[in-house]
Amino acid sequence: MKSDYPDEKNPSNRYTAPARLLHWTLAILLIGMVGLGWYMMSIEDAPGSDWYFNLHKSVGLLVLLLVLLRAVWRLLHQPAPLPLATPPWQIIASTVSHWVLYALMLALPLIGAIGAAFSKSGLIFFGTPLPRLVAPDHDVAELFFSMHSFAAWILVILVSLHVLAALKHLLIDRDGVFQRMWF
Ligand code: HEM
Repeated sequence: MKSDYPDEKNPSNRYTAPARLLHWTLAILLIGMVGLGWYMMSIEDAPGSDWYFNLHKSVGLLVLLLVLLRAVWRLLHQPAPLPLATPPWQIIASTVSHWVLYALMLALPLIGAIGAAFSKSGLIFFGTPLPRLVAPDHDVAELFFSMHSFAAWILVILVSLHVLAALKHLLIDRDGVFQRMWF
């Protein structure tokens, strides 16, 4: 049977196993981190809130490492092309939105880590305080936290559009694009 994809040797055009594993691990971690971030802001000054802040900082640093790994993997591996019938505007929209998602996934934890480095409590990784590279500065920390909060909102909006597009491929177009990233 003739394939819907340009590459006849890989007719299902699936992403590789490492790409799929990194995609879904980061999807779960990023959604969890947004929820945790909003929750800890709602209990900011309550007794015991430190535990949530420290968890957020620690997992956030792990996410930063995973995003770096994913970005390097993506730069070294070209994904298989989209189906031949994909309209050009969709190819452009998906390329642009995917690169903006990568930029945000990197910038968000990086900005959070810089803010935390300038804060009074500093950076902490699962109970171990990390060496201070900068002197605490409340105003600089607050500036980075405002950017961190703004970037989280942009990420939420973009991920929602990304999910809607994926669902359109799965339920309306039924063109196999969703299954390329599924297990
Ligand atoms: C990995 C991705 C990350 C996501 C999705 C994320 C998300 C969020 C969100 C949604 C908030 C609440 C913002 C608000 O409503 O004002 C927040 C706050 C915060 N995040 Fe993150 N974050 C991430 C990584 C990090 C990292 C790596 C650090 C530091 C190592 C960090 C440190 C903080 C701190 C200290 C706050 C509280 C800011 C304040 O006191 O105003 N975050 N984060």
